[in-house]
Amino acid sequence: MKHLLTIEELSEKEILHLLESAELIKRQRGREGQPLKGQTWAMIFTKSSTRTRVSFEVGIRELGGSPMFLSKNDIQLGRGEPIIDTARVLGRMVHGAVIRTFAQQDVVDFAEYSGIPTINALTDDEHPCQILADLLTVREKLGGWDGKKVAWVGDGFSNMTISWMWAAKKLGFEFVVACPESYAPPAEFLDKLSAPNVRVTGDPAEAVESAHVINTDVWLSMGQEGQAEKEAAFGPYQVNDSLLASAASGHIVLHCLPAYRGKEITEEVLEAHAGTIFQQAENRLHAQKAVLAAIAKS
Ligand code: CP
Ligand code: NVA
Repeated sequence: MKHLLTIEELSEKEILHLLESAELIKRQRGREGQPLKGQTWAMIFTKSSTRTRVSFEVGIRELGGSPMFLSKNDIQLGRGEPIIDTARVLGRMVHGAVIRTFAQQDVVDFAEYSGIPTINALTDDEHPCQILADLLTVREKLGGWDGKKVAWVGDGFSNMTISWMWAAKKLGFEFVVACPESYAPPAEFLDKLSAPNVRVTGDPAEAVESAHVINTDVWLSMGQEGQAEKEAAFGPYQVNDSLLASAASGHIVLHCLPAYRGKEITEEVLEAHAGTIFQQAENRLHAQKAVLAAIAKS
């Protein structure tokens, strides 16, 4: 494994291997070895982050490497230096890069022009590190996804939904997206996905009925702040106690965080499921260490 740019590019075998490695790394924390010893990893962030930044900084250090955090305002990228030039400079100095930005193409270009291992830490198109942590959490809490129904309630075509839809395609679990029609995955995407186990509905109750996993995320992703018309369309798509009443018994609720209480999720639901949701946040560290270790090995 040289890069982690998308879930789309991973095979079922690679996903399972990463999750098994993450479980081992989690159990062995402090005794997991130093595969990044002597390496410096750049962390280029053009969007805000709490979990991703902290989990990568800690994870790189725990694997023996040195993280170098570079917000866009610290480097010339923020003043318009092209990503392909940034990539060619950093590729000659550091051993790997973690990038959070807007366009997926920027991460693809960085990987190509730098020649160094590159990890997508969230773009507008995918959030692969988060989905690995989410799948790890589902394995821990429910023992896996075979025969399970996973519901998504909220934005139907965000980085999170797209990565989850690819995960469903690769792993074969039932995945039902409930979203307003205007924010549904476009037909071209669903054709490309070609996954009969992924369905889209306008009815959140239908998606959540008998679901084992109920998943949501912010209605307005980073970069969409102030889109009042978009936000207004999501009123009926809140994860609340009444929606969850028909979920399968023993269901779990996931939220990648940050959460906006009273919008996509109620305070009551978030707090009732905080044990799972903050375990999910912690799993970012273990999942990403598995990714870093797999890259270091190859
Ligand atoms: N879930 C997630 O990626 O959180 P941050 O934006 O805080 O990194
Ligand atoms: N869809 C959200 C995820 C945040 C972790 C966003 O892009 O802002």
